[in-house]
Amino acid sequence: MGGLFMEQFALKGNVLYTPRKDELKTCPNAYVICREGICEGVYETLPEEFREIHVMDFGDSLIIPGMVDLHIHAPQYAFRGTGMDCELLDWLNTHTFPEEAKYANLDYASRAYGIFADHMRKSATTRAVIFGTIHREATLLLMDLMEGSGLVSYVGKVNMDRDSPDSLRETTEASAMETLAFIRASAEKNYQRTMPILTPRFIPSCSDSLLERLSEIRRAHDLPVQSHLSENPEEVALVKKLMPQAEFYGDGYDRFGLFGREAKTVMAHCVYSTEAEVERILKNGVWVAHCPNSNMNLASGIAPVRKYIDAGLRVGLGSDVAGGQSESIFRAITDAIQMSKIYWRYLDKTARPLTFSEGFYLATKGGGSFFGRVGSFEAGYEFDAVVLDDSSVVHPQELTLAERLERAVYLGLDGECIRAKFVRGVA
Ligand code: GUN
Ligand code: FE
Repeated sequence: MGGLFMEQFALKGNVLYTPRKDELKTCPNAYVICREGICEGVYETLPEEFREIHVMDFGDSLIIPGMVDLHIHAPQYAFRGTGMDCELLDWLNTHTFPEEAKYANLDYASRAYGIFADHMRKSATTRAVIFGTIHREATLLLMDLMEGSGLVSYVGKVNMDRDSPDSLRETTEASAMETLAFIRASAEKNYQRTMPILTPRFIPSCSDSLLERLSEIRRAHDLPVQSHLSENPEEVALVKKLMPQAEFYGDGYDRFGLFGREAKTVMAHCVYSTEAEVERILKNGVWVAHCPNSNMNLASGIAPVRKYIDAGLRVGLGSDVAGGQSESIFRAITDAIQMSKIYWRYLDKTARPLTFSEGFYLATKGGGSFFGRVGSFEAGYEFDAVVLDDSSVVHPQELTLAERLERAVYLGLDGECIRAKFVRGVA
């Protein structure tokens, strides 16, 4: 990601993508063409009008759309893979909140976010929806670093005015004012690829008055929204107690115009969504960020993704670092498929396990739709591509391209094996 921009070019290699969830297209030795950041399509031979364009020949490598992470906490990256023996509410209090409080210190934020942004740059992820902390300055620093990483991302300053330690709790007024200052400051930066997103942490951390203020701010500034929803049984019970007037957890956001109806919204988890909640998610067009790795680590449960997909919900994948231990969306695909098998085996024999094609679709075009026309090589899609060299995985037999991609995902070849990455056509 050197920030190199070329008006038009083609990548040559084995191109794979999922235009539909049930269709993994495989195009051997094909050309995928980029013009001004937009995909022109995939061709067996270069069309006449593109005969002169620059071709980057990646030989036998696999060329796939970039991965989309619909839910990740940048300030939790530093403690990923530790403290994995709690459920959600204990984990927040004992591990997460004390770590996030450190981001009041800009030196710490700079070091920690520097590592985060560098690892995101090296990953197969091209788009991410990111939580910061309550701290405005540290979150702006995170935005600077994400802009430098080349990814396109939404970044949110978190809002919390109750049920949190003193070191990580704002007054309602300060939370609103700091959010406004954050929105203004991020607008002044004139970022090319980094956007602010409204980020009430979850209902237990946000009073009704704060949600009311955020609702006004959202209307005035036309921002998208991210939060958490129905992740854990104790959390759901707590929301019922804190907001008894809400019909269900998601209705608590919807009452304040923070649930898809008025603003593009992504909610992480939805493990315990009731029928009424699922109906509202569908009706309001809320995106569900399915975070299987986190749901295992925090023993949250298994989200019924098959049901959500079949019902027509918008679903993508999230790493949810540090509930999830890894920023790898390849890992998220694998976990989503494996969890769907356990769900089918133990809980519901009508909920067919996810196929590889469906898992890959969720990681690309499913989550990508939150960013517009993203996550596919169909003509008109933004040109986000990752080139994988899987030649280090030796095998004695012939493999199809579909088998090679499935293996690359299951074996986690989204590290050293990435040969190139393009976001909106920029390398
Ligand atoms: N709910 C509220 N905050 C968090 C968080 O940081 N991580 C997860 N997984 N769930 C949350
Ligand atoms: Fe989360």
